[in-house]
Amino acid sequence: MKKMQHYFTVCLTILFFSCSSFGQNTKEQNSITYEKKIEELLAKMTVEEKVGQMNLYNGFWDATGPVPKKGNAKTKYEHLKKGWVGAMLNVKGSDKTRELQKFAVEETRLGIPLLFGFDVIHGYKTLSPIPLAESASWDLEAIEKSARVAATEASAAGINWTFAPMVDISRDARWGRVMEGGGEDPYLGSKIAVARVKGFQGENLSAKNTIIATAKHFAAYGFIEAGKEYNTVSIGNSTLYNTVLPPFKAAKDAGVRSFMNAFNDLNGIPASTNTFLQRDILKGKWNFNGFVVSDWASINEAIFWGQAKDKKEAAYLAATAGSDMDMEGYVYIKELANLVKDGKVDETILDHAVRRILKVKFELGLFDDPYKYCNEDREKKIIGQQSHHNAVLDMAKKSIVLLKNQNQLLPLQKEGKKIALIGHLADDDNSPLGSWRLASDDHSAVTILDGMKAYKGNTLSYEKGVELYNGNPTFVTEVNINTTNRKGIQEAVETAKNADVVVMVLGEHGFQSGEGRTRTNLDLPGLQQELLEAVYKVNPNIVLVLQAGRPLAINWAKEHIPAIVMGWQLGTQTGNAIAQVLYGDYNPSGKLPMTFPRNVGQIPIYYNYKSTGRGSNTQNNVFWSHYSDVENTPLYPFGYGLSYTSFQYDNLQINKLKFSKEETIKISVDLTNMGNYDGKEVVQLYIRDKFASTVRPVKELKGFELVALKRGETKNINFELSKAELGFYNNQGTFLVEEGEFEIFVGTDSNADLKAIFELK
Ligand code: NOJ
Repeated sequence: MKKMQHYFTVCLTILFFSCSSFGQNTKEQNSITYEKKIEELLAKMTVEEKVGQMNLYNGFWDATGPVPKKGNAKTKYEHLKKGWVGAMLNVKGSDKTRELQKFAVEETRLGIPLLFGFDVIHGYKTLSPIPLAESASWDLEAIEKSARVAATEASAAGINWTFAPMVDISRDARWGRVMEGGGEDPYLGSKIAVARVKGFQGENLSAKNTIIATAKHFAAYGFIEAGKEYNTVSIGNSTLYNTVLPPFKAAKDAGVRSFMNAFNDLNGIPASTNTFLQRDILKGKWNFNGFVVSDWASINEAIFWGQAKDKKEAAYLAATAGSDMDMEGYVYIKELANLVKDGKVDETILDHAVRRILKVKFELGLFDDPYKYCNEDREKKIIGQQSHHNAVLDMAKKSIVLLKNQNQLLPLQKEGKKIALIGHLADDDNSPLGSWRLASDDHSAVTILDGMKAYKGNTLSYEKGVELYNGNPTFVTEVNINTTNRKGIQEAVETAKNADVVVMVLGEHGFQSGEGRTRTNLDLPGLQQELLEAVYKVNPNIVLVLQAGRPLAINWAKEHIPAIVMGWQLGTQTGNAIAQVLYGDYNPSGKLPMTFPRNVGQIPIYYNYKSTGRGSNTQNNVFWSHYSDVENTPLYPFGYGLSYTSFQYDNLQINKLKFSKEETIKISVDLTNMGNYDGKEVVQLYIRDKFASTVRPVKELKGFELVALKRGETKNINFELSKAELGFYNNQGTFLVEEGEFEIFVGTDSNADLKAIFELK
């Protein structure tokens, strides 16, 4: 152990001082000033006070994880007063944060201010769509703005640290947390990660309305086996380096100030005690100079993983592996000081962790004004202001994906029609808020029924059909899905019979996705499929609006229902957004950030799968990579989404046929709006590296542009590719750019087939 400590002491010292500060001159100067102050402070701290900075306690009101059985509020207050707490989570409101900050600043020996962390995942009080939905916009500016609105509200309520963005790539729609991420693709996921970090952190961290962001969950949580929550992970290096890590690296490069580790293991080492991930990659290779927080009690869980025999060993393993802060795990606070005193953990390990944490506190300006986020007038004025509602409405409309629109059933006519609106979710003001909305008011979403009522030229009748769920699901309870009570189906059928168009709102409750919510079945839950088919029998003129936090397997609907709209959970302004899209006041342009499977058995299903030895059926026999009972293709591919207008791609050109590795490849394509509406299209560019030293995906997204076109208009769209897009990581994590032939594909989704070829020499 001694040898190891020495290694850490030397490496960490070199690392900390060689870490480049994250900005231009002023930032560098500030950082030099901070470093002096940090050293002065550190010199005064006892071991217990150092451990205190590494201790993150949950507050006394809400909890986002399992809470210890015995009430421990008293101990927490005592620890606060002793300076044994560096940060709190789940404390919100300028009054409560001020009260606790006062303890830290006025009653502790050194008066070091607290960080206040919170899961500001898709808004604070005014909610944006769930992150997966936002990702469907492919609109990076809008996504950044949405995070900005969230940070503005959260910072007005005393919060200075969000546990977002979740940048876990996932190919498994069973996993409930796909709702929280950017989807299945590392390129899109990286761009979105950067947009969100920029939105939360802004230009200047010391401003009153910016908060620090967290790239989570480091790493590979999106690859838990069978999508089962908190499970083990088994992936190879190629997936780790090329798929899992890129969005984290992008977030780091964008200056994210904290990383959160994860509940999973990687190669048998839990993420919280994983030296390879935290020390070698994150703090070593990437020179990350912020701090790493554990996930909720995840350090403690090294015991249940069977890696540590007790809390002492868990604390030792996590601290030496580079976890700087223990979230609600009581492990550091209980064991770390003794480990130092017993000579088991070198104090410099604590010093390095504390330096990182203090640095962020300095960057936020907490030492200048610890109460800067605790202003009640500001809180009242800012939270829920109209401009925030406008922004989340805009984001919600941009997130909607039109999946099918046979015979232009949509947009709906605004006058003289009889519309039947059916579905429990259509009149639900809680579910559309989605999961992860701890600071919002329950039942505060605009319902689709209310959104539709604003269009007064038609006659609107509403029927629930069947109850989707019983009771009032919460963040910590399972949703009790109705599978027996069919009361209401007949009324819905009668109403549908007399309608010109039926709008059915079906899908999942907002709390069927999110943490702790894995499903093994991706059909419409409960009796909704039965309701859909019953209504279809009497009136097939149906617009199906789907609400869900993940892709659903809606085969029957795709085959029979003429119009389908993916409406996710769109947050506070859900009803207005859906109504404006259905009535054509907004032309949808969203594209799927995750593949929709035909059935659960196809999962993991994703567009950028690797080439295999038997990828196609050349001899018309069974000896190729396929299923016997369902085709290989998905229900809807990654990148898919329609518009009320139509687009045509022509004239794909590359400026040359052969390039050196140092050259930039210029690609252009003409895009024409052929339909009757102005609209937006996400032009997508994919590459295929035809031969390489390790197997490459059949297609990889390497560029996209959101283009607005008036009807009849043509635009010339340009892309550039260079080394960064053409290379890949080998199994040792080295980035390689190899010579050879590449294909490029440009088009409207991942099935893009307008193709060109070039060679890298
Ligand atoms: C556990 C979740 O995994 C994490 O994402 C979240 O930030 C923490 N709980 C805190 O609520």
